[in-house]
Amino acid sequence: MCGIVGYVGPRQAAPILLDGLQRLEYRGYDSAGIAVFQEGHLERRRCVGKLAGLRKAIEESPVTGTVGIGHTRWATHGKPSETNAHPHVDCRRETVVIHNGIVENYLALKEELLARGHVFASETDTEVIPHLVEQYLAEDPQAGFFAAARRALARLKGAHAIVLMGAQEPGAIVAARLGNAGGVVVGLGEGENFVASDVPAILSHTRQMVFLDNRELAVVAADRVRYFTLEGAPLAKAPESVAWDPVAAEKRGYKHFMQKEICEQPRSLTDTLRGRVDFATGDIYLEGLRLTPEELATVDRVAIVACGTAYYAGLIGKYMIEELARLPVEVDYGSEFRYRNPLVNSRALALAITQSGETVDTLAAMQEAKGKGARLVAIVNAIGSQASRLAQGLIYMHAGPEIAVASTKAFTSSLVDLLLLGLHLGTVRGTLNHEQLRTYAQALAELPEKAGQVLADQAIYEELAHRYHRAKDFLFLGRGIQYPVALEGAHKLKEISYIHAEGCPAGEMKHGINALIDENLPVVAVAVRDKVYEKMLSNIEQVRARDGQVIAVASQGDERIADKCDHVIHVPSTAPLLEPVLTTIPLQLLAYHLAVRRGCDVDQPRNLAKSVTVE
Ligand code: G6P
Repeated sequence: MCGIVGYVGPRQAAPILLDGLQRLEYRGYDSAGIAVFQEGHLERRRCVGKLAGLRKAIEESPVTGTVGIGHTRWATHGKPSETNAHPHVDCRRETVVIHNGIVENYLALKEELLARGHVFASETDTEVIPHLVEQYLAEDPQAGFFAAARRALARLKGAHAIVLMGAQEPGAIVAARLGNAGGVVVGLGEGENFVASDVPAILSHTRQMVFLDNRELAVVAADRVRYFTLEGAPLAKAPESVAWDPVAAEKRGYKHFMQKEICEQPRSLTDTLRGRVDFATGDIYLEGLRLTPEELATVDRVAIVACGTAYYAGLIGKYMIEELARLPVEVDYGSEFRYRNPLVNSRALALAITQSGETVDTLAAMQEAKGKGARLVAIVNAIGSQASRLAQGLIYMHAGPEIAVASTKAFTSSLVDLLLLGLHLGTVRGTLNHEQLRTYAQALAELPEKAGQVLADQAIYEELAHRYHRAKDFLFLGRGIQYPVALEGAHKLKEISYIHAEGCPAGEMKHGINALIDENLPVVAVAVRDKVYEKMLSNIEQVRARDGQVIAVASQGDERIADKCDHVIHVPSTAPLLEPVLTTIPLQLLAYHLAVRRGCDVDQPRNLAKSVTVE
């Protein structure tokens, strides 16, 4: 889950690396470092904490050189410290490595290398890599750096994205992907080339990208890039043109990326829908699905796998698909699915939901389902990511780059994708008629505009933040399809404001949660006018009877609820299965404003990372 960037070309590497790292800092951020070849010898700067520290260190002690690599770290082995920060070097400071992943056999390798006289400077697993290269170079100097690097990589157990440079080949960077520890992308420029773990790091330089697959490596020089298998066989790989707008990855005047991403949901929802719905007939087009109606007709269950916020999207997807296609749907965390011998076979449709497409537990769950013969479809945002390669069928979110650690626009785009899939499955299975399809198409057409209406007035959130920022706990209540919305609301608040929060199905309160309610507990009740509205009102009464403070998210025009609550946030009505898209936005804004008011690091909350590529 660390960020990786590399540059080789005629320009000074350090500013390009710092700029790339800045765009990747969301991936991991307990320390950072760069290494540059300067007149044949290696210059390295590393720093604990945020990137500003590294920037300062480089200002105080500049490095010059046109080939370099940089890394932001999220510690797994060895505490965050300058010594443990990447890049790591060998005894001679001739091989330098940055790495994302965990070397599972590093203790055995380290013992082997210590026995051969290598001296280790850090507590990290990564450091075995430069020493292994050094060892193989010493054993067979004729074979050269690239061969030594390949031999070293072949010894590593686990999943890795690795970038190395060697003094023997000072004009090139080696980048390798071994398994699912995050992506490795090569960016092709004019007389210069780039490597990165994520597209946004290098998007301002080029859109021509080559994505490495498992057990592939690239030797990247300024004038050409060569691709090989880990065994050394040459590979031909074609570049893909990435359409993401680099400006979309900037803050554009917003205070935080999260704020920007919340506010751009009318646009991201439009992009998700573009070209997929015939608004006149209600027909749905999911081109990337690559499953024929005949294949889909054999499906007898759906198994959704996801992590974090994507998991809550999956729970909402269960309501959608069961209702529209009358198929049983199970939803699992990737980390649970992969270890519980799940009941899927060739009649199951496994559906992964992942913004990054690189979450290791989701990828492992996908592999598990695929291994059991299930048809595998992924709802993914990051183009070219590992999930998009693993899946047979794809439904892209088209939400654009999401930078803030807490997922917002990718969540609502996933909900739209899930609804589209439900409509498509319902059509194929004959559980929906034309009239229903047209009704949903109409609701989808109006959705972005309605999201804009929810965003139009944000004054209430500052007021709520002012009033509740000292709360120790929050409770989120919902019923039916709004229950997972309550879970996501609680999740968002925990992630960025560090306030403890729980989501609870309102009907369950009487079995436990009621014991917690008192005048100090703010309760957010999602109570739109749906079939469980009356039940929600009586749950709200129960909270009030115990002096709880109630903030309701209610349907526009609902005046009745105001008498029963301390605060009401109104959202426009839409089709029942699409209500979660609109009710989630106020919960995102509430979490955001509470976190800002509490002075939290909204875009990069402590101990979390955007893309979790370790188990
Ligand atoms: C991390 C992020 C979450 C995200 C989850 C799943 O925990 O902090 O925001 O929801 O991973 O990520 P994915 O990329 O698979 O959707």
